[in-house]
Amino acid sequence: MKAQLDNISVAAAQEIASASDKASLETVRIKYLGKKGALTAILRGMGALTPEERPVIGAYANTVRANIEAFLEEKGASLASEELKNALVKEKLDVTMPAKVKTVGKLHPITQVENRMKEIFVGLGFDIVEGPEVESAYNNFDALNAPADHPSRDFQDTFYINDTTLLRTQTSPVQIRAMKTMTPPIRIISPGRVYRCDEVDATHSPMFHQLEGLVIDKNITLGDLKGLLELWAKEMFGSDTKTRFRPHNFPFTEPSAEVDVSCFVCGGKGCRLCKGEGWIELLGAGLVHPNVLKAGGIDPEVYSGLAFGMGIERVVMTSYGIDDMRHLYENDIRFLGQF
Ligand code: PHE
Repeated sequence: MKAQLDNISVAAAQEIASASDKASLETVRIKYLGKKGALTAILRGMGALTPEERPVIGAYANTVRANIEAFLEEKGASLASEELKNALVKEKLDVTMPAKVKTVGKLHPITQVENRMKEIFVGLGFDIVEGPEVESAYNNFDALNAPADHPSRDFQDTFYINDTTLLRTQTSPVQIRAMKTMTPPIRIISPGRVYRCDEVDATHSPMFHQLEGLVIDKNITLGDLKGLLELWAKEMFGSDTKTRFRPHNFPFTEPSAEVDVSCFVCGGKGCRLCKGEGWIELLGAGLVHPNVLKAGGIDPEVYSGLAFGMGIERVVMTSYGIDDMRHLYENDIRFLGQF
């Protein structure tokens, strides 16, 4: 019986050693230590032994069992660590591999500058209103005090849809719409597209963007206009920025001015951006002409107003030192990606 136990011990050790995974190891365990296993069968046959042999064989059988169990456990542990190693190899990540670059969309520079302008004026209590791009000739010209022989009314300059309808040449007709629908005090800005019959070149485009501003209240003066635009310029271009008002002529404002800001690159000394002038011409402005107030249904004896209008492309181009307007419309991703 001792010899049988030795055989079992050797055979079990061999099979355990060659088990390649947990399942085959379990099969080996059942084969030797299970209820119907080889070792159990031997222990069952112990009844046939003499009383002297029984404790000796019994102790020996226990040692064999203990050995087999120890082998099983050791093999089980080594199989488990091997499985873990394999899993780690299979799931390995190469952290040095270059990541896929995701391109994130951005706002167009025109939109960015427009948003910044809106922010500043909204912060000053202005409302944003919008008007249609297809506008009546009346709102675009007549109500804005532009006489019938005004050059801007020429077919050469304006896209007419028919005798009375056109693509607005400026955002100023929104002044008329605002005055007719709102009651003073009125404080609005109106950004949007405008159209003019211009050939495309570095500084012209048949479509561009303007931002209009209008304030109507009692006792609005040129001082309010100057203060407002100076505040805007400092917010937009930096606190050192100065403004300069030059007399000008617009049909819808009286007095009228063209407004320059001190060059924010050279601070006024003269450089490439300001073409040696020290100043950059940015917008048109003035006090609302009494005829325009009347056309908007507002009594010029009671109220006065200020208005201004600026080209957004111009602000974008001077802000970023862009020398050709066409870059803003070609939408080359390499250009747009810089903003
Ligand atoms: N509408 C004018 C233009 O297009 C700008 C402007 C607006 C001037 C309001 C004065 C007041 O040039």
